[in-house]
Amino acid sequence: MIEITKLNHTYPDGKLALDSVDLCIEKGEFIVIAGNNGSGKSTLVRHMNALLLPGSGSVKVNGLLTSEKSDLPQIRRTVGLVFQDPDSQFVGMTVEEDLAFGLENTGVPPEKMRRLVDKALSSMGLSGHKKSSPRSLSGGQRQKVAIAGVIVMGPEYMVFDEVTSMLDLPSRQALLEIIKDINKKGTAVIYVTHRLDEAVDADRLIIMDSGRIVIDGKPAEVFMRPDLVRGYGLELPPLIELSRRLSDAGIISRIALSGDELVEELCLSM
Ligand SMILES: Nc1ncnc2c1ncn2[C@@H]1O[C@H](COP(=O)(O)OP(=O)(O)O)[C@@H](O)[C@H]1O
Ligand SMILES: [Mg+2]
Repeated sequence: MIEITKLNHTYPDGKLALDSVDLCIEKGEFIVIAGNNGSGKSTLVRHMNALLLPGSGSVKVNGLLTSEKSDLPQIRRTVGLVFQDPDSQFVGMTVEEDLAFGLENTGVPPEKMRRLVDKALSSMGLSGHKKSSPRSLSGGQRQKVAIAGVIVMGPEYMVFDEVTSMLDLPSRQALLEIIKDINKKGTAVIYVTHRLDEAVDADRLIIMDSGRIVIDGKPAEVFMRPDLVRGYGLELPPLIELSRRLSDAGIISRIALSGDELVEELCLSM
């Protein structure tokens, strides 16, 4: 479990970026964190593997405090982070070397290392790019290399911080499907976005505003909240907007999260 209690974070310039945040994330969950630019999403997730440390309050990963220096290696193995800009994460000359780098530092024997690297590459459909330079690949493929670099470490929790925001629509959808699969295989996923349409399949949707968690619930419940759009600068996906209007007008009885669900609801109402 990741257990965040009364977490505050103030940047050196005095900006209060997190204001008394409480949040628990269980093993295996698929959580989407959404919110406007500057609402504190990146600051929050960087606390989950101790890239940032609490100003006050605490962050515990499987019982280990991120403020405890000696527990850092274990925490970093447990929680992996993938960022918006994959290029900032590459360390190797080839895709293969890049993935091996993190493992070398943990003292994995070479034979096992090769097996783990091959498995991670094949899970991301990158086996044919082993000898390529990460920088020679397309944006979507570079992002996959960055994800494989985290998968290879075998984390229990993976954080994706706006990883699809620089990609075109097809690459974005493909990557989101891959991330959902990672979750189905048992890894908890914390997916940060400012696009609510990416949250429909999540177990929980968390909305942040001005350094606070302002809503935390199942997507269908969160989409019903009247304060959601006007209050926090987020745009409802068109299907959800339509579904909400039909529900407000008493035509359907619950928020439909997909086209199929909407058709079902409409058929029921006729
Ligand atoms: N390194 C930094 N130094 C000072 N202020 C920062 C820094 N990083 C982020 N901030 C500020 O903290 C707030 C939260 O930022 P951030 O966590 O990046 O939000 P989000 O990821 O939701 O866009 C913003 O007001 C931002 O300007
Ligand atoms: Mg951010």
